[in-house]
Amino acid sequence: MELKLAATDPLKTKTACLVLGAWEKGLNAPLLKRLDDALQGELQRAVRNGEFSGKEGELLVLRPQPALPAERILLLGLGSRTAAGLEPLRRAAGQAVTALRGQRLTRVVCALPLVELRNGRLDDKVEAVAEGALLAGYRFDRYLPAAEQKSGLLPKSFHLLIDRSSDRNACQQALNRAEQISRGACLARTLVNEPGNTKSPAWLAEQARAVAAEAGLHCTVLNREDLRREGFGALLGVAQGSEREPCLILLEHRGGPDGEAPVALVGKGVVFDSGGISLKPAEKMDEMKMDMAGGAAVIGTLLAAGRLQLPVNLLGVVPAVENLPSGTAIRPGDILTSLSGKTIEVLNTDAEGRMILADALTYVQRFAPRLVIDLATLTGACIIALGRHASAVLGNDQALVRQLLAAGEQSGERLWQLPLWPEYDRQLKSDIADVKNTGGRPAGTITAAAFLQRFVDKARWAHLDIAGTAWNDEARPYAPKGGSGVGVRLLLRFLRNLTVER
Ligand code: BES
Ligand code: MN
Ligand code: ZN
Repeated sequence: MELKLAATDPLKTKTACLVLGAWEKGLNAPLLKRLDDALQGELQRAVRNGEFSGKEGELLVLRPQPALPAERILLLGLGSRTAAGLEPLRRAAGQAVTALRGQRLTRVVCALPLVELRNGRLDDKVEAVAEGALLAGYRFDRYLPAAEQKSGLLPKSFHLLIDRSSDRNACQQALNRAEQISRGACLARTLVNEPGNTKSPAWLAEQARAVAAEAGLHCTVLNREDLRREGFGALLGVAQGSEREPCLILLEHRGGPDGEAPVALVGKGVVFDSGGISLKPAEKMDEMKMDMAGGAAVIGTLLAAGRLQLPVNLLGVVPAVENLPSGTAIRPGDILTSLSGKTIEVLNTDAEGRMILADALTYVQRFAPRLVIDLATLTGACIIALGRHASAVLGNDQALVRQLLAAGEQSGERLWQLPLWPEYDRQLKSDIADVKNTGGRPAGTITAAAFLQRFVDKARWAHLDIAGTAWNDEARPYAPKGGSGVGVRLLLRFLRNLTVER
């Protein structure tokens, strides 16, 4: 599906399908009025019959010929316009692409960038519509027979309409941004969807190397020997039950001034989490191939940041391990010495993410980062607390948390803050080591973050628990079931806000 800009009148454009949007109570928008006039009241009749009202997710198909040149019109409900951000546009564009998939259309024309939106700049609307369309086009189909590879059945081209007076250059840049950002998010989805049998830590490192080559990044991979020499005791402890060699992946984007402290992004990279000796139940264990979604988000973000040449220095770190039970695995009760020197009493081998992140956080602070953000599918408790509609954010710097919350609203990858009061830290007190690796059932997401905080010295730091958001158990307007790619669009929005670029 090729995305292009066009500055034509939607009602005078020849196309297999014209995509339009309507806000609830916004059916008198000038374009819709013109449409209704051309169709001699057809739209008003549909509204009166209760077929369409503009509610979010509604879809009305019209056949306007011979009055208009479009063969078909797809009118999408955008929901309430009050206080709406760009998310309704992403959703509607995604819904359009999903509805048209499989029809082998040649040319679709989409007028969604022209809908009225308070404070909505045209280039921002173009970016949102393009993003929704591209993300909705994604399928993980590399293991399906060619006949079922549905990515091929998308419209050949998807034209985004802008008006003649608008800044075409700015809109073209927005379109390019949407393409790079969506690619980053779709790469993260694919890394997550890839099954555990192919997805070894070494495979993940290979993917990171390929990304580095494509995006002009520097990639370094520390292997088991390197990690041993340095003293990554917590990471190596988690990895020791698997025959697959763990590694630590480092991706660097040098887009900012020389010597400027980097923004560090750390992503949990457990390529499969069986729980280890504290084995998980069989039901849904297959989903634990997604336990490297934080790492996938970091790799996807670095890909886009490199290709967009974001003017910032970035450091992506992905500790990659597999958590399996075996004769060499760590046991409940074991004590590991982390890279920081702190000892960890392992009460539950299924609380492995925080241990590999502890070492990764210690390591990344050696680079004196200006701030550190980690992303991890860290706790089942986060799914209980927030479901699949928000990631949890916790941190030691409220200004940073606020910037992340804002980027979450803007990108549609929403966050909700949980407290990190010192009281919670007491649940981690061990009698025989510096810290226990679990704090019991109460406030599981918070005590996991409190554990990480023990390994953060002076850095400004925020932790994102993406356990609920990294995996869609149902299709969304612009995402199929499976890996969501969460984090990529959020982080890119955050980084772009940081650099005051668009
Ligand atoms: N990867 C899991 C968390 C998870 C669960 C992510 C379900 C996505 C869906 C993590 O390693 C884990 O097992 N956490 C334990 C921690 C507990 C043992 C303290 C959990 O949440 O049960
Ligand atoms: Mn686990
Ligand atoms: Zn895990």
